[in-house]
Amino acid sequence: MTDSEATPADSTPADSAGPGPTPAERAATRDAHRELAEDALVRADDLVAGYLPGVNILEDCNFFLRDGEIVGIIGPNGAGKSTLLKTLFGLIPVRSGTVTLRGDDITSKPAHVLVQKGLGYVPQTNNVFPALTIEENLEMGIYLRPKKFAERFAFVSELFPLLAERRKVKAGSLSGGERQMVAMGRALMMDPSVLLLDEPSAGLSPMFQDEVFIRCKAINAAGVSVIMVEQNARRCLQICDRGYVLDQGRNAYTDTGPRLMNDPKVIELYLGTLAGSREKK
Ligand SMILES: Nc1ncnc2c1ncn2[C@@H]1O[C@H](COP(=O)(O)OP(=O)(O)O)[C@@H](O)[C@H]1O
Ligand SMILES: [Mg+2]
Repeated sequence: MTDSEATPADSTPADSAGPGPTPAERAATRDAHRELAEDALVRADDLVAGYLPGVNILEDCNFFLRDGEIVGIIGPNGAGKSTLLKTLFGLIPVRSGTVTLRGDDITSKPAHVLVQKGLGYVPQTNNVFPALTIEENLEMGIYLRPKKFAERFAFVSELFPLLAERRKVKAGSLSGGERQMVAMGRALMMDPSVLLLDEPSAGLSPMFQDEVFIRCKAINAAGVSVIMVEQNARRCLQICDRGYVLDQGRNAYTDTGPRLMNDPKVIELYLGTLAGSREKK
């Protein structure tokens, strides 16, 4: 899936004045990250973004996704994971920094332009139209190219057979897990090269959570590069080529999924029992 040379040799502390790496550590690793980002499909450099005037949520955030990868973004509640995803999708004003797709600057482009360029975004909540049927929800996903509906519906139904079986059912009557499939299916209707998923497993039963991770892997195997934000950090890192740990709007660590999962500092701060108490604060 990903070129093994394209991953840093060690867990790479980056960009944090917070509880993770020191500023000196992050300065030393930022250049390495930037080099690895060359030729990336999606790339964000030194993003500063926020909602309220004078309050930055993302502080010099860096990120990249290579073609074919599945990359996870984890970190405590309030770290800025959703904000990063929304910023990549042009939903938050960017104060400085850039987002590029295949080298084209897409910073702050409107959603319909980004969708046409091949980005699909699934927000964490309110991601289906409850009063519409499954089929109508999927039609909404491809209203820009209605003639392609049948072809895309066939593709999406192969990944999520339930959507074809229950196509006439109103999305509002579905379980949380089924709705998540509708939301992901809708984003896939436009044949995106990159799918952005915000906590697809949140609020689901353990069985459905596992199902979501399996589907994400299948979507990736079908040729879609995936960026997923997840609170289920361990499970996410298990399926991801690479992961980013965000903390207080900054990069804390980035590495391959397995290396992050086994990094004592990452375990202590973000995956262990301490991580639980940090999340509650
Ligand atoms: N719409 C908003 N207006 C103002 N502040 C927001 C808004 N959404 C999120 N924030 C703030 O931005 C920070 C990061 O939030 P978010 O990106 O949702 O975190 P995460 O997804 O990592 O839990 C939090 O401090 C949160 O309170
Ligand atoms: Mg979030």
